[in-house]
Amino acid sequence: MAKILVTGGAGYIGSHTCIELLDAGYEVIVFDNLSNSSEESLNRVQDITQKSLTFVQGDIRNADELDRVFENHSIDAVIHFAGLKAVGESQEKPLIYFDNNIAGSIQLVKSMAKAKVYTLVFSSSAAIYDEDNISPLNEQMPTGIPSNNYGYTKLIVEQLLQKLSASNPEWSIALLRYFNPVGAHKSGRIGEDPQGIPNNLMPYVTQVAVGRREKLSIYGNDYDTVDGTGVRDYIHVVDLANAHLCALNNRLQSKGCRAWNIGTGNGSSVLQVKDTFEQVNGIPVAFEFVARRAGDVATSFADNSRAVAELGWQPQYGLEDMLKDSWNWQKQNPNGYN
Ligand code: NAD
Ligand code: UD1
Repeated sequence: MAKILVTGGAGYIGSHTCIELLDAGYEVIVFDNLSNSSEESLNRVQDITQKSLTFVQGDIRNADELDRVFENHSIDAVIHFAGLKAVGESQEKPLIYFDNNIAGSIQLVKSMAKAKVYTLVFSSSAAIYDEDNISPLNEQMPTGIPSNNYGYTKLIVEQLLQKLSASNPEWSIALLRYFNPVGAHKSGRIGEDPQGIPNNLMPYVTQVAVGRREKLSIYGNDYDTVDGTGVRDYIHVVDLANAHLCALNNRLQSKGCRAWNIGTGNGSSVLQVKDTFEQVNGIPVAFEFVARRAGDVATSFADNSRAVAELGWQPQYGLEDMLKDSWNWQKQNPNGYN
Protein backbone atom coordinates (compact mmCIF):
# COMPACT_ATOMS: atom_id res chain seq x y z
CA MET A 1 0.00 0.00 0.00
CA ALA A 2 1.14 3.50 -0.75
CA LYS A 3 3.18 5.52 1.76
CA ILE A 4 1.81 8.99 2.39
CA LEU A 5 3.69 11.90 3.93
CA VAL A 6 1.24 14.08 5.86
CA THR A 7 2.68 17.50 6.69
CA GLY A 8 0.81 19.14 9.57
CA GLY A 9 -0.69 15.73 10.37
CA ALA A 10 -0.89 16.38 14.12
CA GLY A 11 -3.33 19.28 13.58
CA TYR A 12 -7.11 19.33 13.44
CA ILE A 13 -7.78 18.27 9.83
CA GLY A 14 -4.51 16.33 9.52
CA SER A 15 -5.22 14.05 12.50
CA HIS A 16 -8.69 13.20 11.16
CA THR A 17 -7.19 12.46 7.75
CA CYS A 18 -4.57 10.18 9.34
CA ILE A 19 -7.40 8.06 10.77
CA GLU A 20 -9.03 7.65 7.37
CA LEU A 21 -5.67 6.89 5.72
CA LEU A 22 -4.73 4.26 8.31
CA ASP A 23 -8.20 2.70 8.15
CA ALA A 24 -7.88 2.49 4.37
CA GLY A 25 -4.55 0.67 4.76
CA TYR A 26 -2.10 3.43 3.81
CA GLU A 27 1.23 3.79 5.57
CA VAL A 28 1.40 7.23 7.18
CA ILE A 29 4.39 9.42 7.99
CA VAL A 30 3.46 12.62 9.82
CA PHE A 31 5.83 15.58 9.59
CA ASP A 32 4.87 18.41 11.95
CA ASN A 33 6.72 20.99 14.05
CA LEU A 34 3.93 20.93 16.68
CA SER A 35 3.71 24.74 16.56
CA ASN A 36 -0.08 24.52 16.75
CA SER A 37 -0.70 20.96 17.90
CA SER A 38 0.26 18.25 20.30
CA GLU A 39 1.68 14.78 19.73
CA GLU A 40 -1.17 13.55 21.91
CA SER A 41 -3.48 13.82 18.88
CA LEU A 42 -1.31 11.23 17.12
CA ASN A 43 -1.30 8.93 20.15
CA ARG A 44 -5.08 9.03 20.03
CA VAL A 45 -5.18 8.46 16.26
CA GLN A 46 -3.18 5.27 16.83
CA ASP A 47 -5.42 4.24 19.74
CA ILE A 48 -8.58 4.77 17.68
CA THR A 49 -7.32 2.90 14.62
CA GLN A 50 -5.22 0.33 16.48
CA LYS A 51 -2.60 1.00 13.79
CA SER A 52 0.71 2.75 14.03
CA LEU A 53 2.11 5.68 12.11
CA THR A 54 5.55 7.27 12.00
CA PHE A 55 5.96 10.71 13.50
CA VAL A 56 8.85 12.99 12.53
CA GLN A 57 9.07 16.33 14.31
CA GLY A 58 10.34 18.90 11.86
CA ASP A 59 9.67 22.13 10.03
CA ILE A 60 8.72 22.33 6.35
CA ARG A 61 11.00 25.37 6.00
CA ASN A 62 14.00 23.21 6.88
CA ALA A 63 15.42 21.61 3.71
CA ASP A 64 17.64 19.12 5.57
CA GLU A 65 14.85 17.84 7.78
CA LEU A 66 12.51 17.40 4.83
CA ASP A 67 15.11 15.82 2.55
CA ARG A 68 15.92 13.32 5.29
CA VAL A 69 12.28 12.21 5.48
CA PHE A 70 12.22 11.54 1.75
CA GLU A 71 15.56 9.69 1.98
CA ASN A 72 14.44 7.55 4.92
CA HIS A 73 11.01 6.59 3.58
CA SER A 74 9.95 5.77 0.05
CA ILE A 75 7.08 8.23 -0.08
CA ASP A 76 4.47 7.87 -2.85
CA ALA A 77 2.47 11.06 -2.27
CA VAL A 78 2.17 14.05 0.04
CA ILE A 79 -0.86 15.61 1.73
CA HIS A 80 0.18 19.10 2.76
CA PHE A 81 -1.67 20.58 5.75
CA ALA A 82 1.28 22.29 7.48
CA GLY A 83 0.81 26.02 7.81
CA LEU A 84 -0.46 28.77 10.03
CA LYS A 85 -4.14 29.74 9.91
CA ALA A 86 -4.96 32.51 12.41
CA VAL A 87 -6.43 35.34 10.36
CA GLY A 88 -5.88 38.10 12.97
CA GLU A 89 -2.28 37.06 13.59
CA SER A 90 -1.62 37.03 9.84
CA GLN A 91 -2.49 40.73 9.75
CA GLU A 92 -0.10 41.56 12.59
CA LYS A 93 2.76 39.28 11.50
CA PRO A 94 2.54 38.88 7.72
CA LEU A 95 6.15 37.76 7.28
CA ILE A 96 5.66 34.80 9.61
CA TYR A 97 2.70 33.76 7.43
CA PHE A 98 4.55 34.33 4.15
CA ASP A 99 7.47 32.31 5.52
CA ASN A 100 5.52 29.35 6.94
CA ASN A 101 2.83 29.07 4.31
CA ILE A 102 4.54 30.24 1.12
CA ALA A 103 8.27 29.62 1.69
CA GLY A 104 7.39 26.38 3.55
CA SER A 105 5.31 25.14 0.61
CA ILE A 106 8.08 26.05 -1.84
CA GLN A 107 10.59 24.10 0.24
CA LEU A 108 8.23 21.13 0.35
CA VAL A 109 7.88 20.94 -3.44
CA LYS A 110 11.63 21.40 -3.85
CA SER A 111 12.25 18.40 -1.59
CA MET A 112 9.52 16.45 -3.40
CA ALA A 113 11.09 17.16 -6.80
CA LYS A 114 14.52 16.16 -5.47
CA ALA A 115 13.03 12.85 -4.28
CA LYS A 116 11.01 12.48 -7.51
CA VAL A 117 7.70 12.48 -5.66
CA TYR A 118 5.21 14.43 -7.75
CA THR A 119 1.80 13.72 -6.21
CA LEU A 120 0.47 16.39 -3.87
CA VAL A 121 -2.82 17.26 -2.19
CA PHE A 122 -2.84 20.85 -0.92
CA SER A 123 -5.10 22.47 1.71
CA SER A 124 -6.51 25.53 0.03
CA SER A 125 -9.48 27.60 1.06
CA ALA A 126 -12.72 29.10 -0.22
CA ALA A 127 -11.11 32.39 0.90
CA ILE A 128 -9.34 32.55 -2.49
CA TYR A 129 -12.58 33.30 -4.41
CA ASP A 130 -13.27 36.88 -5.39
CA GLU A 131 -15.77 38.20 -2.87
CA ASP A 132 -18.02 39.57 -5.62
CA ASN A 133 -18.83 36.04 -6.80
CA ILE A 134 -22.37 34.97 -5.92
CA SER A 135 -22.73 31.62 -4.10
CA PRO A 136 -22.86 28.75 -4.88
CA LEU A 137 -19.19 29.21 -5.73
CA ASN A 138 -17.76 26.96 -8.43
CA GLU A 139 -14.18 26.31 -9.43
CA GLN A 140 -14.43 28.29 -12.68
CA MET A 141 -15.27 31.50 -10.86
CA PRO A 142 -12.53 34.12 -10.60
CA THR A 143 -10.23 34.23 -7.62
CA GLY A 144 -9.62 37.56 -5.92
CA ILE A 145 -7.07 39.02 -3.55
CA PRO A 146 -8.22 37.77 -0.12
CA SER A 147 -8.88 40.45 2.48
CA ASN A 148 -6.38 38.94 4.93
CA ASN A 149 -2.77 37.77 4.68
CA TYR A 150 -3.63 34.20 5.64
CA GLY A 151 -6.02 33.85 2.70
CA TYR A 152 -3.48 35.61 0.49
CA THR A 153 -0.88 32.90 1.23
CA LYS A 154 -3.37 30.24 0.05
CA LEU A 155 -3.94 32.09 -3.23
CA ILE A 156 -0.21 32.49 -3.84
CA VAL A 157 0.54 28.82 -3.13
CA GLU A 158 -2.30 27.74 -5.45
CA GLN A 159 -0.85 29.89 -8.22
CA LEU A 160 2.70 28.64 -7.63
CA LEU A 161 1.51 25.04 -7.77
CA GLN A 162 -0.43 25.68 -11.00
CA LYS A 163 2.68 27.17 -12.61
CA LEU A 164 4.86 24.36 -11.31
CA SER A 165 2.53 21.77 -12.79
CA ALA A 166 2.40 23.66 -16.12
CA SER A 167 6.21 23.61 -16.24
CA ASN A 168 6.57 19.87 -15.70
CA PRO A 169 3.88 17.34 -16.65
CA GLU A 170 5.15 14.88 -14.03
CA TRP A 171 3.30 16.78 -11.31
CA SER A 172 -0.13 15.69 -10.15
CA ILE A 173 -1.60 18.23 -7.76
CA ALA A 174 -4.99 18.58 -6.07
CA LEU A 175 -6.02 21.98 -4.72
CA LEU A 176 -8.77 21.31 -2.20
CA ARG A 177 -10.70 24.47 -1.47
CA TYR A 178 -12.19 23.88 1.94
CA PHE A 179 -15.29 25.72 3.03
CA ASN A 180 -15.81 25.74 6.85
CA PRO A 181 -14.52 22.59 8.56
CA VAL A 182 -16.22 21.74 11.88
CA GLY A 183 -17.11 18.62 13.89
CA ALA A 184 -14.87 15.92 15.26
CA HIS A 185 -14.29 12.19 15.11
CA LYS A 186 -17.25 10.18 16.47
CA SER A 187 -15.16 8.93 19.39
CA GLY A 188 -14.79 12.49 20.71
CA ARG A 189 -11.10 11.75 21.30
CA ILE A 190 -9.69 14.07 18.66
CA GLY A 191 -11.00 17.46 17.60
CA GLU A 192 -10.21 21.12 17.06
CA ASP A 193 -8.02 22.61 19.79
CA PRO A 194 -7.27 26.24 18.93
CA GLN A 195 -4.71 28.09 20.99
CA GLY A 196 -5.88 31.35 22.57
CA ILE A 197 -9.15 33.01 21.66
CA PRO A 198 -10.77 31.17 18.75
CA ASN A 199 -11.11 33.10 15.51
CA ASN A 200 -13.67 30.72 14.05
CA LEU A 201 -17.32 30.31 14.97
CA MET A 202 -17.51 26.65 15.96
CA PRO A 203 -14.75 26.50 18.59
CA TYR A 204 -16.06 29.76 20.03
CA VAL A 205 -19.56 28.26 20.39
CA THR A 206 -18.27 25.09 22.08
CA GLN A 207 -16.03 27.09 24.43
CA VAL A 208 -19.02 29.22 25.50
CA ALA A 209 -21.05 26.03 26.01
CA VAL A 210 -18.33 24.46 28.16
CA GLY A 211 -17.94 27.62 30.26
CA ARG A 212 -14.53 28.78 29.01
CA ARG A 213 -15.95 31.95 27.41
CA GLU A 214 -18.81 34.12 28.62
CA LYS A 215 -20.74 34.68 25.42
CA LEU A 216 -20.56 34.46 21.67
CA SER A 217 -20.26 37.74 19.78
CA ILE A 218 -22.26 37.44 16.56
CA TYR A 219 -20.58 39.65 14.00
CA GLY A 220 -23.44 41.55 12.39
CA ASN A 221 -27.18 40.91 12.12
CA ASP A 222 -27.85 43.25 9.22
CA TYR A 223 -26.57 41.16 6.31
CA ASP A 224 -28.86 40.41 3.39
CA THR A 225 -29.40 36.80 4.52
CA VAL A 226 -32.22 34.67 5.94
CA ASP A 227 -31.91 36.24 9.44
CA GLY A 228 -29.30 38.97 8.97
CA THR A 229 -26.33 36.87 10.16
CA GLY A 230 -23.52 35.52 7.96
CA VAL A 231 -24.10 32.32 5.97
CA ARG A 232 -21.38 29.69 5.51
CA ASP A 233 -21.00 26.14 4.24
CA TYR A 234 -20.02 24.03 7.26
CA ILE A 235 -18.45 20.69 6.40
CA HIS A 236 -17.84 17.79 8.80
CA VAL A 237 -14.11 17.24 9.28
CA VAL A 238 -14.53 13.49 8.67
CA ASP A 239 -16.16 14.21 5.29
CA LEU A 240 -13.29 16.61 4.59
CA ALA A 241 -10.74 13.97 5.60
CA ASN A 242 -12.37 11.51 3.21
CA ALA A 243 -12.18 14.06 0.40
CA HIS A 244 -8.38 13.86 0.77
CA LEU A 245 -8.43 10.11 0.20
CA CYS A 246 -10.63 10.55 -2.87
CA ALA A 247 -8.34 13.31 -4.19
CA LEU A 248 -5.29 11.14 -3.52
CA ASN A 249 -6.77 8.24 -5.48
CA ASN A 250 -7.62 10.60 -8.31
CA ARG A 251 -4.15 12.14 -8.37
CA LEU A 252 -2.34 8.81 -8.21
CA GLN A 253 -4.07 8.04 -11.53
CA SER A 254 -3.81 11.33 -13.43
CA LYS A 255 -1.47 14.27 -13.99
CA GLY A 256 -1.83 18.04 -13.90
CA CYS A 257 -3.18 20.47 -11.34
CA ARG A 258 -6.88 20.67 -10.56
CA ALA A 259 -9.01 22.46 -7.94
CA TRP A 260 -12.03 21.02 -6.14
CA ASN A 261 -14.43 22.71 -3.72
CA ILE A 262 -14.96 20.72 -0.56
CA GLY A 263 -18.22 21.81 1.03
CA THR A 264 -21.71 20.38 1.43
CA GLY A 265 -23.37 22.88 -0.90
CA ASN A 266 -25.66 24.08 1.92
CA GLY A 267 -25.41 27.43 3.66
CA SER A 268 -26.25 27.93 7.37
CA SER A 269 -26.46 31.25 9.18
CA VAL A 270 -24.70 31.99 12.47
CA LEU A 271 -28.07 32.04 14.25
CA GLN A 272 -29.05 28.71 12.67
CA VAL A 273 -25.77 27.21 13.90
CA LYS A 274 -26.28 28.57 17.42
CA ASP A 275 -29.94 27.52 17.60
CA THR A 276 -29.27 24.04 16.18
CA PHE A 277 -26.36 23.58 18.59
CA GLU A 278 -28.67 24.41 21.52
CA GLN A 279 -31.40 22.07 20.25
CA VAL A 280 -29.29 19.00 19.52
CA ASN A 281 -27.09 19.30 22.60
CA GLY A 282 -29.52 20.79 25.11
CA ILE A 283 -26.98 23.46 26.14
CA PRO A 284 -27.63 27.21 26.03
CA VAL A 285 -25.16 29.44 24.22
CA ALA A 286 -25.18 33.05 25.51
CA PHE A 287 -24.67 35.58 22.73
CA GLU A 288 -24.84 39.21 21.74
CA PHE A 289 -24.91 40.95 18.39
CA VAL A 290 -21.89 43.14 17.70
CA ALA A 291 -20.61 45.03 14.66
CA ARG A 292 -19.66 43.18 11.46
CA ARG A 293 -16.12 41.78 11.34
CA ALA A 294 -13.85 43.40 8.78
CA GLY A 295 -13.31 41.20 5.73
CA ASP A 296 -16.46 39.06 6.21
CA VAL A 297 -18.84 38.43 3.34
CA ALA A 298 -22.58 37.90 3.83
CA THR A 299 -22.81 34.50 2.17
CA SER A 300 -20.39 31.82 1.04
CA PHE A 301 -21.29 28.27 0.09
CA ALA A 302 -20.00 25.75 -2.39
CA ASP A 303 -21.08 24.26 -5.63
CA ASN A 304 -19.48 20.87 -4.86
CA SER A 305 -20.63 19.11 -8.03
CA ARG A 306 -17.11 18.85 -9.49
CA ALA A 307 -15.81 16.98 -6.44
CA VAL A 308 -18.88 14.73 -6.39
CA ALA A 309 -18.58 13.92 -10.12
CA GLU A 310 -14.81 13.65 -10.46
CA LEU A 311 -13.63 12.41 -7.07
CA GLY A 312 -16.53 10.09 -6.32
CA TRP A 313 -16.82 11.92 -3.01
CA GLN A 314 -20.06 12.61 -1.21
CA PRO A 315 -20.49 14.33 2.14
CA GLN A 316 -22.27 12.06 4.63
CA TYR A 317 -22.95 14.38 7.55
CA GLY A 318 -25.40 17.23 8.10
CA LEU A 319 -25.27 20.25 10.40
CA GLU A 320 -26.80 18.38 13.36
CA ASP A 321 -24.08 15.70 13.23
CA MET A 322 -21.39 18.37 12.99
CA LEU A 323 -22.72 20.21 16.04
CA LYS A 324 -23.22 17.04 18.10
CA ASP A 325 -19.71 15.84 17.29
CA SER A 326 -18.08 19.21 18.01
CA TRP A 327 -19.77 19.23 21.42
CA ASN A 328 -18.93 15.58 22.11
CA TRP A 329 -15.22 16.41 21.62
CA GLN A 330 -15.35 19.64 23.65
CA LYS A 331 -17.24 18.20 26.62
CA GLN A 332 -14.91 15.20 26.87
CA ASN A 333 -11.88 17.50 26.50
CA PRO A 334 -12.84 20.85 28.08
CA ASN A 335 -9.26 22.07 27.80
CA GLY A 336 -8.45 20.41 24.48
CA TYR A 337 -5.37 18.17 24.57
CA ASN A 338 -3.98 19.89 27.70
P1 NAD B 1 -3.94 23.13 12.46
O1 NAD B 1 -3.23 24.35 12.94
O2 NAD B 1 -4.73 22.35 13.45
O3 NAD B 1 -2.91 22.18 11.71
C1 NAD B 1 -1.78 22.64 11.03
C2 NAD B 1 -0.58 21.82 11.49
O4 NAD B 1 0.59 22.29 10.81
C3 NAD B 1 -0.30 21.96 12.99
O5 NAD B 1 -0.17 20.67 13.56
C4 NAD B 1 1.01 22.74 13.06
O6 NAD B 1 1.79 22.38 14.19
C5 NAD B 1 1.66 22.35 11.75
N1 NAD B 1 2.62 23.33 11.22
C6 NAD B 1 2.45 24.67 11.10
N2 NAD B 1 3.55 25.24 10.55
C7 NAD B 1 4.42 24.22 10.30
C8 NAD B 1 5.72 24.17 9.75
N3 NAD B 1 6.34 25.28 9.35
N4 NAD B 1 6.33 22.97 9.66
C9 NAD B 1 5.72 21.84 10.08
N5 NAD B 1 4.48 21.83 10.62
C10 NAD B 1 3.84 23.02 10.74
O7 NAD B 1 -4.90 23.61 11.25
P2 NAD B 1 -6.02 22.80 10.48
O8 NAD B 1 -7.33 23.45 10.78
O9 NAD B 1 -5.87 21.36 10.66
O10 NAD B 1 -5.67 23.21 8.99
C11 NAD B 1 -4.87 22.40 8.16
C12 NAD B 1 -4.61 23.12 6.85
O11 NAD B 1 -5.86 23.44 6.24
C13 NAD B 1 -3.88 24.44 7.01
O12 NAD B 1 -3.01 24.62 5.91
C14 NAD B 1 -4.99 25.46 6.96
O13 NAD B 1 -4.54 26.71 6.53
C15 NAD B 1 -5.93 24.81 5.95
N6 NAD B 1 -7.31 25.27 6.07
C16 NAD B 1 -7.93 25.20 7.27
C17 NAD B 1 -9.24 25.67 7.40
C18 NAD B 1 -9.96 25.62 8.73
O14 NAD B 1 -10.97 26.30 8.88
N7 NAD B 1 -9.51 24.85 9.71
C19 NAD B 1 -9.91 26.19 6.28
C20 NAD B 1 -9.24 26.24 5.05
C21 NAD B 1 -7.94 25.77 4.96
C1 UD1 C 1 -12.56 32.57 8.32
C2 UD1 C 1 -11.57 33.48 7.62
C3 UD1 C 1 -11.04 32.77 6.37
C4 UD1 C 1 -10.46 31.40 6.75
C5 UD1 C 1 -11.49 30.58 7.52
C6 UD1 C 1 -10.92 29.29 8.02
C7 UD1 C 1 -12.10 35.81 8.06
C8 UD1 C 1 -12.61 37.09 7.48
N1 UD1 C 1 -12.18 34.74 7.24
O1 UD1 C 1 -13.65 32.29 7.44
O2 UD1 C 1 -10.03 33.56 5.77
O3 UD1 C 1 -10.10 30.68 5.56
O4 UD1 C 1 -11.96 31.35 8.65
O5 UD1 C 1 -9.97 29.49 9.03
O6 UD1 C 1 -11.65 35.80 9.20
N2 UD1 C 1 -18.65 34.53 13.51
C9 UD1 C 1 -19.29 35.16 14.56
N3 UD1 C 1 -18.66 35.17 15.78
C10 UD1 C 1 -17.45 34.58 15.99
C11 UD1 C 1 -16.81 33.94 14.91
C12 UD1 C 1 -17.44 33.94 13.67
O7 UD1 C 1 -20.39 35.69 14.42
O8 UD1 C 1 -16.94 34.64 17.13
C13 UD1 C 1 -19.35 34.47 12.20
C14 UD1 C 1 -18.58 35.12 11.06
O9 UD1 C 1 -18.92 36.48 10.95
C15 UD1 C 1 -19.04 34.27 9.86
C16 UD1 C 1 -19.29 32.88 10.46
O10 UD1 C 1 -19.46 33.09 11.87
O11 UD1 C 1 -20.28 34.77 9.38
C17 UD1 C 1 -18.14 31.93 10.24
O12 UD1 C 1 -16.93 32.56 10.68
P1 UD1 C 1 -15.53 31.77 10.72
O13 UD1 C 1 -15.72 30.47 11.42
O14 UD1 C 1 -14.51 32.70 11.27
O15 UD1 C 1 -15.22 31.42 9.19
P2 UD1 C 1 -15.14 32.39 7.91
O16 UD1 C 1 -15.43 33.79 8.26
O17 UD1 C 1 -15.96 31.77 6.85
